[in-house]
Amino acid sequence: MTKPKILVTRKISDTAEQQLNDNFDVTLNLKDKAIPYENLAKTCNEYDGVIATSFDKFDKNFFNNMNGRLKIIASVAVGYDNIDIPAAKEKNIIITNAPNVLNDAVAEVTLLLMLGAARKALEGLSLVKSGKWKDAKVDFTNFMVGKPMTGKTLGIIGMGRIGRIVAERAKGFGMKIIYFNRKKVSAELELGAKYFDNINKMMPHCDYVSIHCPATPETKHILNKEAIQLLSQHAIVINTSRGATVDDNALIEALENNKIYAAGLDVFNNEPKLDERYLKLNNCFTLPHIGSANDETRAAMSMMAVNNIVAHFNKSAYLSRIV
Ligand code: GLV
Repeated sequence: MTKPKILVTRKISDTAEQQLNDNFDVTLNLKDKAIPYENLAKTCNEYDGVIATSFDKFDKNFFNNMNGRLKIIASVAVGYDNIDIPAAKEKNIIITNAPNVLNDAVAEVTLLLMLGAARKALEGLSLVKSGKWKDAKVDFTNFMVGKPMTGKTLGIIGMGRIGRIVAERAKGFGMKIIYFNRKKVSAELELGAKYFDNINKMMPHCDYVSIHCPATPETKHILNKEAIQLLSQHAIVINTSRGATVDDNALIEALENNKIYAAGLDVFNNEPKLDERYLKLNNCFTLPHIGSANDETRAAMSMMAVNNIVAHFNKSAYLSRIV
């Protein structure tokens, strides 16, 4: 019996690639050269299954060009805003993602951004690395003086799997937790956090606000001008979800004019070509979308995609199916 043909669009972990090779007729991308969007549909039409990353764009046009061979796209990401889900469904192409295994990694980067933004890590690092520390005026009350986390209130937007872990970790820093979510979560999951059914009601209470919801039409610009204006001047905005949840104009305007204290951002609209105004802001601590980027997590995400492919062709249960 001929083995199903599987394409892996980018380099994934060695162990996951090995497992695929053992079971399928596999085309790996060992050089990790991105497949240009213009060639993606044509290439995928030669395969029964694809393992993809969030760098690959599977839009309506892609699915309209499918010839019926491709049966599954297993993404190595939790977020699937790069995939037109209704279009995939219409073409009966199964979409799986890789949730849960990255929750701790993203929570860790969230805390890194909180600390980085609050304690002026960007300015401190630049000063040391530029060799200018020796010339700086180091005084007791101003020099690199930031904001504390202990005893402060963290508002979480999206109390899902990642939001709840962030809440737990932040409690370890002595923070109080409040949250906004589509629905109030059970007392068992809420762990004492106070629920707000309206994001704008929560904003004035936040010393820190961190976004943990997926990018959907409903959450686009969930942090908009109105919400940002309700934050206090010492507030710090954190985003490890997707850039689309933030209105860049509103956030940049607030940072430029010190209407809020700082931001810590791992994700941006139009990555990696982010709005260049972010680059000039000393009060914006930025990372290049590395929320899940630790070796163990990336290996686990790779394995999850492979296991979803295996499940599909073995007709067993998917680990995580979107549609
Ligand atoms: C990372 O951003 C992911 O969606 O997995």
